[in-house]
Amino acid sequence: MYNVIFVQNISQMKERILIIGSSGQIGTELVLELRKIYGNTNVIASDIRRTSEKVMQSGPFEELDVLNEPHLREIVKKYKITQVYLLAALLSATAEKDIEFGWKLNIRSHSHVLDLAKDGLIKKIFWPSSIAVFGPTTPKNNTPQSTIMEPNTVYGISKQAGERWNEYYFNKFGVDVRSLRYPGLVGWRAKAGGGTTDYAVNIFHQAIQYGKYESFLAENTGLPMMYMSDAIRATIELMEAPAEQVKIRSSYNLAGISFTPKQIAEEILKHIPNFEMTYNTDFRQVIADSWPFSIDDSHAKKDWGWEMKYDLEKMTSDMMKNLKKQYTITA
Ligand code: SER
Repeated sequence: MYNVIFVQNISQMKERILIIGSSGQIGTELVLELRKIYGNTNVIASDIRRTSEKVMQSGPFEELDVLNEPHLREIVKKYKITQVYLLAALLSATAEKDIEFGWKLNIRSHSHVLDLAKDGLIKKIFWPSSIAVFGPTTPKNNTPQSTIMEPNTVYGISKQAGERWNEYYFNKFGVDVRSLRYPGLVGWRAKAGGGTTDYAVNIFHQAIQYGKYESFLAENTGLPMMYMSDAIRATIELMEAPAEQVKIRSSYNLAGISFTPKQIAEEILKHIPNFEMTYNTDFRQVIADSWPFSIDDSHAKKDWGWEMKYDLEKMTSDMMKNLKKQYTITA
């Protein structure tokens, strides 16, 4: 038993990880979690802008524009990076506002990182996909792993193309790339930015500060969501799974919790009894309407033992507890 743990630790210590997009919603949490496992100095945070103080103070940070390929390669060589987590992207709502930049950032950053592995500079890649790969013609309930995918957003099209590139690079060049189709993610450490599912994060901040929230999605728009700590755990578990267990190289479906704005509002009401929710939909409603309601993630369960821990009730309680603390400290 002790030998196994020892050997695992030694192999983990040899890893040097670069997180690209460390200032974002996922990056902020992932850096801290990976530093706990691999050691602070072995996890290099990088972003185009400075990141949270906790991330800045706990280990190395590099200012990096991922579109600058020579600089990316310089950093990879400088730190002898073995794994890259590529989290820089424009999400669904922001990419619709700047189609060209959305496409350029999402596609080029991905090929820059895939080529690092193809050229033998790194061993392993994590690249996130999304429920946005699905479209209006996809079955809405319990959406299968392989199904009709006709996304109609820049973000969704870029993610679908990226999934195809993942599989191509794995088959053709043996690149060890791993990916998850994240549902909408809800966490308290960092704010969400630019997504259609952001309402489910914003609602907590507004509820605690002002006791009310105006939702930009209609009350019965159900979408798959996931608590951030589950998403981070899924990411790390997938990255640590033995390569032969990772049978899907495009991207794994991940189910999460399916709920509507009305349902999350009812859950928040249990914590803030006078909470008021109003609805005023905008262009994001059309995007949300094109996505599924619930996802079948049986492949993730079967291949690498995935199991979700947070349901809507547990997620809401944890968000409330942590955000209330955060607002009290900063008040
Ligand atoms: N959360 C993302 C968005 O709303 C979907 O992956 O854009």
